[in-house]
Amino acid sequence: MVISSFDDWRQEARRLVLAGVAPHEADWQGNTGLLDGLLDATGSGDPPRTLRIPRALPELLASAARFRAEDRWALLYRVLWRVVTGDRSAILAGDSDGSELHRRIKAVRREAHHLHAFLRFRPCQATEVEFIAWHEPAHEVLDLGAEHFIGRMGRTRWAIATPDGAACFDGHALHYRHPCPPALTRLAKVVDERGDALWQTYYQSTFNPARLNEKAMRGHMPVRFWQHLPEARLIPQMVSEARAGQQRLAQAADVGERDGKAVLIARERAQPARPTTSALQDCQACAIWRNATCAVPGEGPQQASIMLIGEQPGDLEDLAGRPFVGPAGQVLNDALLAAGLERDALYLTNAVKHFKWEPRGGSTSRGATRLHATPKPAEIQACRPWLDEELNRIRPRVVVALGRTALASVLKMHDPQRIRLADFGGQAIRHEHFWLLVAPHPAAILRSRGDAEVRLAELVAALEQANRLAHEA
Ligand code: URA
Repeated sequence: MVISSFDDWRQEARRLVLAGVAPHEADWQGNTGLLDGLLDATGSGDPPRTLRIPRALPELLASAARFRAEDRWALLYRVLWRVVTGDRSAILAGDSDGSELHRRIKAVRREAHHLHAFLRFRPCQATEVEFIAWHEPAHEVLDLGAEHFIGRMGRTRWAIATPDGAACFDGHALHYRHPCPPALTRLAKVVDERGDALWQTYYQSTFNPARLNEKAMRGHMPVRFWQHLPEARLIPQMVSEARAGQQRLAQAADVGERDGKAVLIARERAQPARPTTSALQDCQACAIWRNATCAVPGEGPQQASIMLIGEQPGDLEDLAGRPFVGPAGQVLNDALLAAGLERDALYLTNAVKHFKWEPRGGSTSRGATRLHATPKPAEIQACRPWLDEELNRIRPRVVVALGRTALASVLKMHDPQRIRLADFGGQAIRHEHFWLLVAPHPAAILRSRGDAEVRLAELVAALEQANRLAHEA
């Protein structure tokens, strides 16, 4: 039997407990078939004589069941089994199962709050729905959060579409649909921007640049929701404006204190002597920082034997503060999979740490789409100390330069445009303390017309070669 809901689990768990099947004998992983077999057998545990459980337990278990995790049914069963066999510490926060249970309940509550806070209805053209929202909750909280909107939206007909299910209010009653009908998904994903200006104006009016705390902001408003929030498009610009304002104030104060040394101070700031991640966030060695949300540091294990270097963070990386999480990151993930490499085992970074962009169509209006702009040689050079620091700290055996900018930075060549990638293709070069391989950049693969498959194959081949070199004695 497939366990697809808490009710399914509850029925099966009850039968297993009564059959004396201990948690280690029940395999809930696949959620299919295995339980039926087990039910015919008798477990080795002592079945409890009665099923007495604390009154609060079903609610705790039901809440934790909303947390998406492979072991969700197994954890619930372990807790249930321990409680019915007399060990009530299983639901206490000081117990290992209990603390995991409470952590999940808390995460579910938080996700229900996110549904209220970060869901945005947009006007919809369809006759049966006037307002529609797309939301991607991390856990199963749609039915926990959807009712909240009945009071908010009056008698209007609205729908919330999610990757799993939908909540539809027809003006009188709320109905849940599982799975979400494809037509509703399509409607929800077609963004009708009428009304966005209102959100943006509201957000701008509540944004206080003097109290900007980017870390807290990312904590309260997880970046994964930003792409569906109209006001999020304003954040990078408001953040950089706020930073520039702070910077002006700080400089004015410094200059006031140290008469005549302003140039020196600026130079000290521009060339941090010993790079650290927090210093990276303060880097102003070139002008790109002004329009970026944050500097994106490299990520991966400190002992990684392979380092991949891209050009610079893109739009989503700039919002998330992590490298290769956008569309180019997807291409890279596919290539890594094809090459049999685990992303988590590699160190991923970029030659340039800030996202350089320009508004689409040259407009500077707020909320404009941010288009990637190629970093200039001087900007690549200004960022080079950060890459050096990473190369010295990680000391990879193999470096894969993804595209020209990365290659120019590694080889300390001034102008990437003078490099012909074909001259390096398929050959490992011994450079400093590592092997250097050159591969097409995943974003170039995305953009390429006609030869995307060939270039993807080149990327995969370079990654496979990196893997071989990293494991050679
Ligand atoms: N994302 C990155 O982090 N780097 C790139 O070069 C492109 C996308």
